[in-house]
Amino acid sequence: MTRQASHDPASSPGNEGLEPECVQPAVADDDSVLLRVENLRKEYRSGLQPLVLFDGLNLTVRQGEMIAIVGESGAGKSTLLHLLAALDRPSAGDVYFAATWLGKLTAGEAATFRNREIGYVWQLHYLLPEFTALENVAMPLLAREEPKPSAFAKARELLREVGLEARVHHLAGELSGGEQQRVSLARALVTQPRLLLADEPTGNLDNRTAEAVFGLLERLHTTHRLTSILVTHNMEIAKRCGRTLRLHEGRLHEVWLHSSGSEGASAEGRAASSDTPGHPIVRTAVPGANRTGTA
Ligand SMILES: Nc1ncnc2c1ncn2[C@@H]1O[C@H](COP(=O)(O)OP(=O)(O)OP(=O)(O)O)[C@@H](O)[C@H]1O
Ligand SMILES: [Mg+2]
Repeated sequence: MTRQASHDPASSPGNEGLEPECVQPAVADDDSVLLRVENLRKEYRSGLQPLVLFDGLNLTVRQGEMIAIVGESGAGKSTLLHLLAALDRPSAGDVYFAATWLGKLTAGEAATFRNREIGYVWQLHYLLPEFTALENVAMPLLAREEPKPSAFAKARELLREVGLEARVHHLAGELSGGEQQRVSLARALVTQPRLLLADEPTGNLDNRTAEAVFGLLERLHTTHRLTSILVTHNMEIAKRCGRTLRLHEGRLHEVWLHSSGSEGASAEGRAASSDTPGHPIVRTAVPGANRTGTA
């Protein structure tokens, strides 16, 4: 991989307004890569002993991919999404979003980066309960000082897309859990981000509502030409994503899911035991996966 600048990265789409020294063209050799994580380490020092969550974690995400991240509670899934969104800083290692090196962003630049590039859906939606659905969805646009008529028109359109045109003037606190999660999807997408990060977006919903919200997410992924990474404990949902990664002992491992939703071998394991009659593999090999079976 070349680290030579082939162009002025600060003039790249999405990098306007960033200081040139905040931009490192590390992925200039492959335009289809949207996100690259290299040798990520995250360590917390709040307890008696340091807690090392990741050490040497790598990940390459290509534009248009839909990726499920699974893993045990406490494995670090939410922490990883925070690092990808520049909500938190790694202890070591680098995260590149297209030509932007997140490591050099100031707090203000990181906020601008998130507002432009990232749609974030939280497990607990974090809507403002005393504001209407429309106001909640318009909020990220108002934060970037977009005029109110245009911000509200875009918010209304997104609420229509998620099927909530009849609820625009409801206070967020008056909506059902599934409706609140639809509003938070609309809020995440109103700024037309390139990357959608969703942390257990269906985690608090019953099966039927979870299915409806995930179906909506799948549709929006396509219509908004998104790259999406979602954390889930639901293997049925993971199975429907183009690629599934398991976060285990600080590294991401490619997993193949059988049509039943049960987990197959990792990339490495699958290569070793080429085919398994009677168990159709619904996942194909993923471009960008390295030869060690990690992502
Ligand atoms: N700010 C922090 N300071 C210290 N430890 C933290 C901090 N944030 C998270 N941790 C610890 O890091 C570990 C991973 O947390 P994280 O929330 O990323 O897990 P997770 O995989 O998302 O789990 P879950 O599936 O339960 O949501 C946990 O053991 C948690 O206690
Ligand atoms: Mg979590």
